[in-house]
Amino acid sequence: MIDVRVLPDREAVGVAAADLIDAAVIERGEQVLGLATGSSPGPAYAELIRRHAQDPARPYGSTHAFLLDEYVGLPPDHPERYARVIRREFTEAMGIDAGAVHAPDPDAPDLERACRDYDAAIAAAGGVGVQILGIGSDGHIAFNAPGTPFAEGTHVARLSSSTRRDNARFFDGDPERVPVSAVSQGIGTILRARALVVVAMGEAKAEIVARLLSSDPTEEMPASALHLHPDVTLLLDRPAARAADRS
Ligand code: GLP
Repeated sequence: MIDVRVLPDREAVGVAAADLIDAAVIERGEQVLGLATGSSPGPAYAELIRRHAQDPARPYGSTHAFLLDEYVGLPPDHPERYARVIRREFTEAMGIDAGAVHAPDPDAPDLERACRDYDAAIAAAGGVGVQILGIGSDGHIAFNAPGTPFAEGTHVARLSSSTRRDNARFFDGDPERVPVSAVSQGIGTILRARALVVVAMGEAKAEIVARLLSSDPTEEMPASALHLHPDVTLLLDRPAARAADRS
């Protein structure tokens, strides 16, 4: 059962997500964070950075982090490479060593092998203890578009035109500049994390949140796989919860 919590605003969502991540890292001693990019995790990252600045002895400095996905085809120094985004927006300020932040390698000559290596690296690190996740407007998680088999591990994913339109805001508003593919953790990978903290905010997510909550698990709706996980918390602000209230 997904534990759904509706919070008054984005900041409150960030505080609630930070509380859940702290519970995993500080109380349960989890050492491996699963990190997402996109705007949804922003308030959670901001709150964790605020707490870390107040008390740098919190145990985040010794954690490892694994990113959900990475675009294929961007130069290594491109500001939208997710490995750079996460360093800039979160891990650097948290005192997490750059070498402890792992992303799928989109430049590997053998991408299939890089995908297998990434899943193996997550397993070798002990598995993800707590994974933060956003939801795309078509119901994708990481870059798993509708129709992706739930059992799949890390793989090369094609971006749908709606996802490229959604992400154009990070590429001067031009969907054509958004890469056409990415290396993405599969739903099978994501479901192996021990706890999932899912964040959705704003009116634009209201319909997809309502669909998720009313849908049985189906590959046509990737986020519906969350129903299969034993420890999922879905944090919503009021606008994102609006359509679910009506259903
Ligand atoms: C991107 C990412 C996802 C993210 C989603 C939602 O495509 N690959 O991991 O959850 O979009 O993004 P946002 O949080 O900006 O709405």
